[in-house]
Amino acid sequence: MRILPLAAGIVAALFATGAFAQQQIVIKFSHVVANDTPKGKGADKFKELAEKATGGKVKVEVYPNSQLFKDKEELEALQLGAVHMLAPSLAKFGPLGAREFEVFDMPFIFPNKEVLAKVTEGAIGKGLFDKLESKAIKGLAYWDNGFKVMSANKPLRKPDDFKGIKMRIQSSKVLESQFRALGSLPQVMAFSEVYQAMQTGVVDGSENTPSNMFTQKHHEVQKHITLTGHGYIGYAVIVNKKFWEGLPSDIRAQLEGAMREATVYTNSIAQTENDEALAGIKASGRSEVYAPTDAEKKAIAKVMEPVYREMEGRVGKELIASIQKIKAEYGF
Ligand code: LMR
Repeated sequence: MRILPLAAGIVAALFATGAFAQQQIVIKFSHVVANDTPKGKGADKFKELAEKATGGKVKVEVYPNSQLFKDKEELEALQLGAVHMLAPSLAKFGPLGAREFEVFDMPFIFPNKEVLAKVTEGAIGKGLFDKLESKAIKGLAYWDNGFKVMSANKPLRKPDDFKGIKMRIQSSKVLESQFRALGSLPQVMAFSEVYQAMQTGVVDGSENTPSNMFTQKHHEVQKHITLTGHGYIGYAVIVNKKFWEGLPSDIRAQLEGAMREATVYTNSIAQTENDEALAGIKASGRSEVYAPTDAEKKAIAKVMEPVYREMEGRVGKELIASIQKIKAEYGF
């Protein structure tokens, strides 16, 4: 008769000593790009480092290529805890109400990755992450992809070439404004749907990084690519805040270490990944790659200028000014 309470007592004592806390923790990490991209490789690197650092107490399951969720759905799933970790493009935080993130989409805002790193690694990057906390999200790191190029089935050299064409964009009002300034018809669409939309003529073109275009085979359905470098794509690695803060603190520290290392790795390979993808596009002979002259780039930049006035209220005048200040420190 006394056995039951005794057994319950033993079980309670075991719980208290953590004997049952040995169960493996699973982290689902979902993303929308291919494995062989900067983000894809970064996610795989984090898995490797996290599993090693925790001695197998944590298992990271990586789901690439929108296998689990498409663009908008993945953020909702993270907030609900259906997935634990994501690395969405910075252009995709606007619909969450974190409109300041769209500052990264401003045309020609970053002259190089040095200035960019100064922004993401400093007070601005931290301030942006702070804004996610009220949305059940915690920001862990910024990962690089690269500068964007433009693609279509016709040559895109002068601002006039963009008039009237349907351009796929990510869900960012700044990107919408950018293409409206060019006279194009911007169309928000999930990344996984772009190839088919190009193939069937639902859109005429898009902007993206060479690594994203090459791994999705966009160059096979776009005859022309112009190396405008007019904007940037990078990522915020984020986690469900409640899940992350509920992890045992020693494990969380090990995971943070793995994330730091995976971030250094990802940011060190991003440019090479894009350079190699561009070489692959050129070698395929499917798409003609055009490097615009400085005068052609300037003409495009000039047409995009009104985006700053139009969007300063949305992303924050002071935020833009603080990035301009960093640029000035670097002589831009
Ligand atoms: C896109 O949707 O074009 C990209 O942001 C995808 C990605 O995550 O790089």
